[in-house]
Amino acid sequence: MNFNINKLTDKLRNMRDLSDAELAALIDAQDCDYLHKTADAVRRERYGIDVYTRGLIEFTNYCKNNCYYCGLRKDNTSLERYRLTKEQILECVHTGYTLGFRTWVLQGGEDMYYSDEYICEIVSALKAAHPDCAVTLSIGEKSYESYEAYRRAGADRYLLRHETADDTHYRSLHPDSMQSENRRRCLQDLKRLGYQVGSGFMVGSPHQTLENLVADLRFLQELDPDMIGIGPFLPHADTPFGGEEKGSLSRCLNLIAILRLMFPYALIPATTALGTIHPLGREMGLKAGANVVMPNLSPKGVRELYTLYDNKICTGEEAAECRSCLDKRVKGVGYRLVADIGNVKR
Ligand code: 5AD
Ligand code: SF4
Ligand code: FES
Repeated sequence: MNFNINKLTDKLRNMRDLSDAELAALIDAQDCDYLHKTADAVRRERYGIDVYTRGLIEFTNYCKNNCYYCGLRKDNTSLERYRLTKEQILECVHTGYTLGFRTWVLQGGEDMYYSDEYICEIVSALKAAHPDCAVTLSIGEKSYESYEAYRRAGADRYLLRHETADDTHYRSLHPDSMQSENRRRCLQDLKRLGYQVGSGFMVGSPHQTLENLVADLRFLQELDPDMIGIGPFLPHADTPFGGEEKGSLSRCLNLIAILRLMFPYALIPATTALGTIHPLGREMGLKAGANVVMPNLSPKGVRELYTLYDNKICTGEEAAECRSCLDKRVKGVGYRLVADIGNVKR
């Protein structure tokens, strides 16, 4: 069918929904200036020109899983592994605090070295030092009891991308030891426990179809998350998908704009993967409706070891350098970096 992309854009803005075929047409459209501009207008209605910052601390690159796409996968034996101690993490947080950050994302592979007790200790130490700050965890699939313990310790938010809402596609990205039902269970548990939840997916992961992407949007409608993180798939040489094509920048930008129109209130980051696929990718993401950036606060010495994919940006810079670089970039495209805790505006 032949759709008028501008009409679809207006309809999505007004209805916050479209049919599957219409969504597929919009995802797949070329030259979507009007789509991106409309998403930017909706973002400005709700958030003005504010871009929220979260300080990202990648505290372990060990992982017990073997996702076919990810450089941290257990079977990647060419990667040097590292772990940060509670003290090192708190040091990153303090540096971040003096740079103006009021919210952190503690991200890592699924590393059993960090017991629930240790994670809770880190979270409560962080909250005790900075009660005015929000703590986000991004440490994968855990039991309800574990999520409950982190929440009690003070964790406010949790990021767990669903990766793909289609079971067959999920199977082609993960070994049998990982189950999409468990991931969905985790996301439901996190919501029930009162976390602000972030989910999302990669754009252009191997075997992904347009129908899969429509299913991802439907899944997000059901989950109704506060944050939605997407970025292009980028190959990592030491993974089974090392020879696969990278995702498409323009499709990723269309999806950011579509997400903004479907979920006007959502916190949508202009991701590091977007900045890696194109030098101005994050700026383009902001102009298409994204309103969050996540500068890297990890210690310089370990940054290049957190290699989800090849050629990741921001591995050679100090926290302060990343922060001021982003400040300039955000200003450069007409927005303003704000350092408060940046709650969702429902
Ligand atoms: N390319 C792009 N994104 C990736 N991620 C993992 N590996 C890759 C890759 N090769 C994303 C996943 C994960 C998040 C932390 O990083 O979506 O949830
Ligand atoms: Fe581990 Fe996450 Fe990488 Fe999968 S995507 S291997 S769970 S770090
Ligand atoms: Fe990290 Fe530019 S944002 S160096």
